[in-house]
Amino acid sequence: MSQLQRKALFNEKGDIELSKRRMINGNTTNLNDFNNMKYSWASDWYRHAMNNFWIPEEINLTQDVKDYRNLSKEEKTAYDKILSFLIFLDSIQTANLPNVGEYITANEVNLCLTIQAYQEAIHSQSYGYILDTICSPEERTDILYQWKDDPTLLARNKFIGDRYNEFYDDRSDFNLLKTIVANYILEGIYFYSGFMFFYALGRIGKMPGTVQEIRYINRDENAHLWLFRSILIELKKEEPQLFNEENEKIFRDMIKQGVEEEIKWAHYAIGNGIEGLSLSMIEDYLKYLGNLRCKGLGFEEIYEGYSKEPESMKWVSEYSDPNAIKTDFFEAKVSAYSKSSIIEDDL
Ligand SMILES: [Fe+2]
Ligand SMILES: [Fe+2]
Repeated sequence: MSQLQRKALFNEKGDIELSKRRMINGNTTNLNDFNNMKYSWASDWYRHAMNNFWIPEEINLTQDVKDYRNLSKEEKTAYDKILSFLIFLDSIQTANLPNVGEYITANEVNLCLTIQAYQEAIHSQSYGYILDTICSPEERTDILYQWKDDPTLLARNKFIGDRYNEFYDDRSDFNLLKTIVANYILEGIYFYSGFMFFYALGRIGKMPGTVQEIRYINRDENAHLWLFRSILIELKKEEPQLFNEENEKIFRDMIKQGVEEEIKWAHYAIGNGIEGLSLSMIEDYLKYLGNLRCKGLGFEEIYEGYSKEPESMKWVSEYSDPNAIKTDFFEAKVSAYSKSSIIEDDL
């Protein structure tokens, strides 16, 4: 483990040659040069992310205002708690991404992180719009602060928050790696029980506006997952010592813990009282996701027998499929922003 040098800011003596560009520990000039990128995937990613532009307020929440008053007790509890969790996750993402960017010395990747932070801000904007539209001011405050007022939710948030704080307090290469893996878990596992719950409501015709907001958020989070996986794969090539057997075990255990925390959370926040969504369905899906995330980084799978998307959960990817988002499900006005067709299907 070694301490990282924060990247230079104004640095006319930085390296210009692409061959010298590195993900971390490079000597960057910080020049934004779209025509000279070492990491060509960054160009695809950037254009893809820009084409995902959307405006939360263009989604109609009229039906949701009525539906929210008629949710069952279980549905409302889950809705409020999951929304509170997502609000926290997007907020900490917005705050933490610049910390990661301070040590990334590939400028094209910093451009991507900047777009990601902007999208996380749009996600927070969408939650604000949902809360302002469907809740009373008291309900709004209650949902907004459950992330720290609900002890179970606070304990959950600490798992990711502590990893981020470790790097914030001690800028070592190993802590940066753990922060990046925590990001990968957050984007690729943590959001999903929330997404699943909202899609389950969508399947029974409830809260259609929230479901649409979530589908757009899900599409962005997919891109963020793609970005962090790409960063990790490049780091594995450039800094193989950080991926020694011992560290890989730590990263894999983090993914496993991420899955387990998510399953515990589903027991607490969702339970078995939601039509069309049982805890065993959620557990199957999360174990499958944990395996998929391991495979994405070239790690061995964690859960035997969970290599394929469970049949009972096929509808989740129908809702979250970034390509389907452009066609049937959305109002023409909103979907017209999206012109992108580049997406990695295995995310
Ligand atoms: Fe987000
Ligand atoms: Fe994200």
